[in-house]
This record gives sequence, C-alpha cells and structure tokens, in this order.
Amino acid sequence: MTNQDWGKIKQSTKAVWAGETRPFFEGCAQVPIVNSVSYSHDDVDEWFEVATGKREGHIYSRNTNPTVQVFEEKMRVLEGAEAATSFATGMAAISNTLFTLLSPGQRVVSVKDTYGGTSIVFLEHLPRFGIEVSLCETHDIEAIFAEIKKGCDVLYLETPTNPTMKILDLKRLIAAGKAQNAVVMVDNTFATPINQNPLELGADLVVHSATKFIGGHSDAMGGVICGREDLVKQVYAFREINGGTLDANSAYLLLRGLKTLKLRIDKQNENAMALAEFLMNHKNVDDVFYPGLESDPGHEVAKSQMKGYSGMLGFSLKGGFDDVRKFLPEIRFAHRAAHLGGVETIVGPPRTTSHVELSEDQRRKLGIPETLIRCSVGIEDIEDIIDDFAQALAKI
Ligand SMILES: Cc1ncc(COP(=O)(O)O)c(C=O)c1O
Repeated sequence: MTNQDWGKIKQSTKAVWAGETRPFFEGCAQVPIVNSVSYSHDDVDEWFEVATGKREGHIYSRNTNPTVQVFEEKMRVLEGAEAATSFATGMAAISNTLFTLLSPGQRVVSVKDTYGGTSIVFLEHLPRFGIEVSLCETHDIEAIFAEIKKGCDVLYLETPTNPTMKILDLKRLIAAGKAQNAVVMVDNTFATPINQNPLELGADLVVHSATKFIGGHSDAMGGVICGREDLVKQVYAFREINGGTLDANSAYLLLRGLKTLKLRIDKQNENAMALAEFLMNHKNVDDVFYPGLESDPGHEVAKSQMKGYSGMLGFSLKGGFDDVRKFLPEIRFAHRAAHLGGVETIVGPPRTTSHVELSEDQRRKLGIPETLIRCSVGIEDIEDIIDDFAQALAKI
C-alpha cells in the first residue's frame, strides 16, 4: 500500500497492520521468522533479475530478508516516509547514515546534547575523515542558526534530548537547514512516531534506536532510518557492504512490540506527566525536566510539534550524590539500568548511564546535575509508581 492508500488510517491501525497486508509463507497469519541466509532460485534468468533489482525477491540476508522487510515497511508507514532501511542497532543506523551522507571537506552542524554514542561519532570519528563538526549549545537557537549559515551539509537534530529533555524547534531549524541545502536528519527515539513526526515538518530523514520504545520490551536491539527514497537508497547501499544488518529474529521481536506501540506510548505519556507533577511538588526534589510541564522552558515549542510529551523525564534530588545512592536501591518497581523505552519503569543516573564517558565538569557544562535521575516511565499503574517513588524519596 502507498502512503496515499494509508491516507486517513490512524497510527494505532498502522502499527498493527502496516507491512502485514500480503499473504505470507504457507498462508501464515503472523509474520514468519525467516532464518535462511540465502534464497534459492532455480531459474537462472529470474535469479539475475532479482539480483539486479529488476524483480522483487531476495538473494542474501545481509541485503534483504522477508521478516526484516516487514519491519521496515511498518516503520516507513508509521513515519509517513518514502522509504526505510534497518540496522542491527540504533548506533549502526546513525553512524552508517552519517558516513554515507558526509565526505571529506563537508560540514555537519548539531547540538551538544545528542545521545552520548552519537556525540562520540561527532567528536572522535567524523573529524578523522576530514569532516568538520560544529556542536552548538542546545538551548541557543540563534547560535545554531549562525553555525548553519556558515555552511551545512548535514543538520543533525535530536529532540527531546537525553537526559535533560531539552526541546529543539524543529520547524525553524529544518527551514534554516533547507535554506543551506543541508540534509536534515532527526533522532526521533525519545518521541516515537506516535508523539512526533519530523518528516511532516520537512526533515529528510528520521532515525530511531528501535531498541527503545519501538520494540518496547527490552529484548531486541535494532535501528532504522526512514525518509527520502534517494537518501535511504544510498544508506542502504553502504549498509549492504558495511554489514550492520538487522537480524530476522530481532526484527520479529520488534514487530511484535510495534503492534502495541500506540497503547504503550499513550500510557507512558500519561504516566510520565503524572509522575512529573508529583515530583515537582516533592520537598526532596530540586528540579524536574519534562516538556509536558507548563513551567518547562521547552513546553510551548513541544506543544506545537509533539502530540504527547514522551515517557521520559529527568529529575534532580536536593543534596548530593549520596542521596542518589540512598534513593535508587529503594525503588521497588523499576530496573536500575542503562536503557529506556521498555514497558517496565527504568531509572538511572546519567553519570553511570548516558553520560558515563564524561567528567563531572563536562556533565555540569551540559547542565546535567550530579543528582539527576533519568527515568523511563513504564506502563505500570500510576498509583503504584507514585507510591513507590514517594516511599523511596522518604528514605533520603
Ligand atoms: C536517543 C538515542 N539515540 C540512539 C541511541 C543508540 O541506540 P542503540 O543502543 O540501539 O545503538 C540511543 C541509546 O540509548 C538513544 O538514547
């Protein structure tokens, strides 16, 4: 089905049905996991046509695989994109795409608050190939505009950011990037296609760590880019050789998770909002970072570009890191882990999770207090979550 055919169909229906509309092997109602490495062709001419892309089919699973293809199609439809291609992890998606789009002498503009792994690609790897990287203060839109104007081949955005939930104004930044003929790429991992659709705002590519909310069950890794067909084709050609392919078993788990994407995200948005409001009024909490709060500096922009404010929030404790040491072990219904986007609540301090590579001083410069706790709010009953946080906060 084309994007036009999907027309007015809602995201919850797309999450269930997109990519699953044709008959599968032996009439299976569910997408089969195709573990075959290669695909046998008895007719030599037909084989040639498939190998040269003149006929639909598969040759070798590093290139294409039927299970993986359904995952790509579901994501393509959810993001309203022309094309999509997938990867073994979110970082494989990000690094393969940046290395495809950028050549020596070119320039990428981004912000300082991107996910830690992405920052390392910007700071350590792209410069080795003679690519100029300019990372701006995330809150300073004028500084980002100024850097874009100096010349920009790729504008890389991430919003909300990790872990302080800063919001970038997508509409204005995408327009500025387009004015310089930049390819605009947005990491939509925290928002998901349920809460935010950067392609509708003019972005060229959207990237996801599918490991997070897309899969939603913390049992499969994956990455995906969705967007302009000409760009996705180039990235696919690089990935085919680079080999960062998504495995069929992981694709199956991600597909299974995607069926409930809308239900999960609606619930996680709702739970995060209620938890943020509770934390705002707690005497042991210093600050809460959640764009759904009217007092949040990113609220107005978030309201204009997001349909929900995400299941992610950050909050800092009054006092010092010893209070984090006391608080975290007391939480009963949460994993203490370097992960997010699962159905279970997950908590962790950036100093041991997203920003472990940075010094205390570097974290302070990014506006990350040492007592910050990143929280990925799950689908548990909100009364239980709040009671749990209340009893743990009472221990410090
Ligand atoms: C916003 C964001 N983008 C990308 C990634 C990288 O994803 P992966 O761990 O699947 O490589 C992460 C991981 O936490 C992330 O939070």
